[in-house]
Amino acid sequence: MTRASQHRLIHLLDIATKALLAALLLAFATVAAQPLDIVLPPPQTDGGKPLMQALKERRTTRSFAEQPLTPQVLSNLLWAANGVNRPDGRRTAPSARNWQEIDVYVAMPDALYVYDAREHGLKRVVARDVRAQIGAQPHSREAPVTLVYVADEQRMGGADEESRRTYAAADAAFIAQNVYLFCASEGLASVVFAMIDRPGFTQAAGLKPQQRIALAQSVGHPKR
Ligand SMILES: Cc1cc2nc3c(=O)[nH]c(=O)nc-3n(C[C@H](O)[C@H](O)[C@H](O)COP(=O)(O)O)c2cc1C
Repeated sequence: MTRASQHRLIHLLDIATKALLAALLLAFATVAAQPLDIVLPPPQTDGGKPLMQALKERRTTRSFAEQPLTPQVLSNLLWAANGVNRPDGRRTAPSARNWQEIDVYVAMPDALYVYDAREHGLKRVVARDVRAQIGAQPHSREAPVTLVYVADEQRMGGADEESRRTYAAADAAFIAQNVYLFCASEGLASVVFAMIDRPGFTQAAGLKPQQRIALAQSVGHPKR
C-alpha cells in the first residue's frame, strides 16, 4: 500500500469513527432526553427525628386533611421511599439482587406520575386524577398523595414466577416501611394497603403486562 492510500484509509477510518460516535451520542440523547415534568428540589437528607423515636411513633392512619404536601416534603418523601443514596445508584430501600424493579407511581390531584430516582423528579403518566381508581377505601382518593409500588418483572433477570412474586412483595415492603418511618418523623399520616383495584389502576396507568402492582400507600397531613 502506498503512503497516499494509507493516509486515505486513516482519513476514512477517522470519519467512520466520528460518525459512529455521533450516532451513539444521538441515540443516548434520545433515550436520556425524556424530560422530567416536575423537577423536585434536592432532598434534605439530614435532620428528622431520631430513629428510635420514629419507630415509637410509626403507625397506620387512615384519615387525611386535604392540604397538599409542599414540593420539599414530596422530595424528601420520595427520596426516603426509594431515592438514590450512593454514587453507584443504589437506593434507600434494598432490592433483591439490586434489581431495583419497583417503580413508585405518585397519584396526586392533578395527575399520575412515576418517580425517576436517578434524576430525582417526576414524569407524568396520565394528566388526570386517578386516585379513585386505586382502591375502594376512601383514603386512596382523600390523601393528597397515594403511592403505588409496581414491579417491572422484566428487570428481574429471568427469576421464576414464585421468586418474582416473593421478591417484588419484599422489595415493595421495604419502600413502604421507609415511607412509614419518614411519615412518623415528619408527623404525617400514612396507610399502606393491599386492597387495590388492580384492574382499575392497571387500566388508568396504562401498565404493561410485565408490570405487577405490589402495594399502595397513601400519605398526607392527618385530619385534625
Ligand atoms: C401487607 C399489608 C397490607 C395491608 N392492607 C391494608 C388494606 O388493604 N387496607 C387498610 O386499610 N390497611 C391495610 N394495611 C394496614 C394494616 O391494617 C395495619 O398495618 C395494621 O392494622 C396494624 O396497624 P399499624 O400499622 O398502625 O401498626 C395493610 C398492611 C400490610 C402490612
